[in-house]
Amino acid sequence: MIKILIVGYGNVGRGVQMAIERNADMELIGIASRTPERVKKSVGEAVKVYDIKEIANWYKDVPADVAILCGGSKSDLAQQTPVINQYYPTIDSFDNHSQLPEYFHLVDEVAQKAGKVSVISLGWDPGIFSLERVLANAYLPGSRAYGFYGLGPKGGLSMGHSDALRTIKGVKDARQYTHAITEAIDEVRAGKNPEFSAGDMHSRECFVVLEDGADAEKITAEIKSMPGYFAPYKTTVNFVTQEELDEKFKGFPHDGCVVAAGTTGSANNSALIEYHCTWGSNPEATAQVLTAYARAVKKLTAEGRKGAFTILDIPASYVSPLTREELLAKMM
Ligand SMILES: NC(=O)c1ccc[n+]([C@@H]2O[C@H](COP(=O)([O-])OP(=O)(O)OC[C@H]3O[C@@H](n4cnc5c(N)ncnc54)[C@H](OP(=O)(O)O)[C@@H]3O)[C@@H](O)[C@H]2O)c1
Repeated sequence: MIKILIVGYGNVGRGVQMAIERNADMELIGIASRTPERVKKSVGEAVKVYDIKEIANWYKDVPADVAILCGGSKSDLAQQTPVINQYYPTIDSFDNHSQLPEYFHLVDEVAQKAGKVSVISLGWDPGIFSLERVLANAYLPGSRAYGFYGLGPKGGLSMGHSDALRTIKGVKDARQYTHAITEAIDEVRAGKNPEFSAGDMHSRECFVVLEDGADAEKITAEIKSMPGYFAPYKTTVNFVTQEELDEKFKGFPHDGCVVAAGTTGSANNSALIEYHCTWGSNPEATAQVLTAYARAVKKLTAEGRKGAFTILDIPASYVSPLTREELLAKMM
């Protein structure tokens, strides 16, 4: 059995707990949290809950093969992964793409010193979409792999952008749906390898609940001009009541695709690679990916490997519960 410690208990943390139950070769050994009393209320007596701050006192009694870190990328993971990796091999879902190279080197240094494995930035993007981009680019030299998100009519819920809306004064609650611009996908599929700016590929739709007395016009202007998050995009803002938001928009649905188009051999033969994911729950899907890689971490650790790894460095056979013979017979 692969013994797993969950670190951080939010949407992804709950998803990892459920994912462990779905994998017969894994068991949950405990949950570590900054707010252990909150977690105890939620999980009851069945699971042991630890205070992260006290890790030096309890880690010897908690022999986990891997700690899956489920904290937020914005301010938790860059602090927590280097600390937890002193005690356990780790997996995390750090998803700030622009800071990823710096994060890799920070974690690699820590993991090399600690003599432990640390797999960073797992999930679907970064994560499985990163792998698909690299493979498509290698199979079709000269092509570019594009990522589109929110393919269906409802779009995909962006948790980061929803959080950004909630930071605005006067906003009580909010959800943000990303929509892929279908004409842009068509251009990529046609093999044009277009030069896009962010706003050419996606638009953003906001559903906002106002605090009493808040100025809707001022808040709309503030949203539309928010650098990075909304300013580069065509953004629509809809004001709704809390009841409408809760009733109409449930869960964390998301979807997306990686698309790369080019040619093979003779330049006349077109080639198109597409990889799609559709998630009823983004955090649960992310958690399934993180949890599957616990197998790889155990195997890498058994080989004496150490340092930081990404999904690009890990063979698929290390992630599968199947034996080599089963893989050869059923999956090739
Ligand atoms: N790579 C990908 O494809 C991908 C996709 C989706 C998400 N992600 C990443 O996953 C991260 C975590 O997402 P999430 O939805 O799980 O975030 P979240 O629900 O906000 O949880 C983040 C942390 O906040 C704390 N927390 C959660 N609920 C709380 C509450 N009610 N009261 C007090 N503390 C609470 C927990 O830490 P403590 O238990 O220590 O308090 C938890 O680990 C995101 O920041 C994102 O970076 C990656």
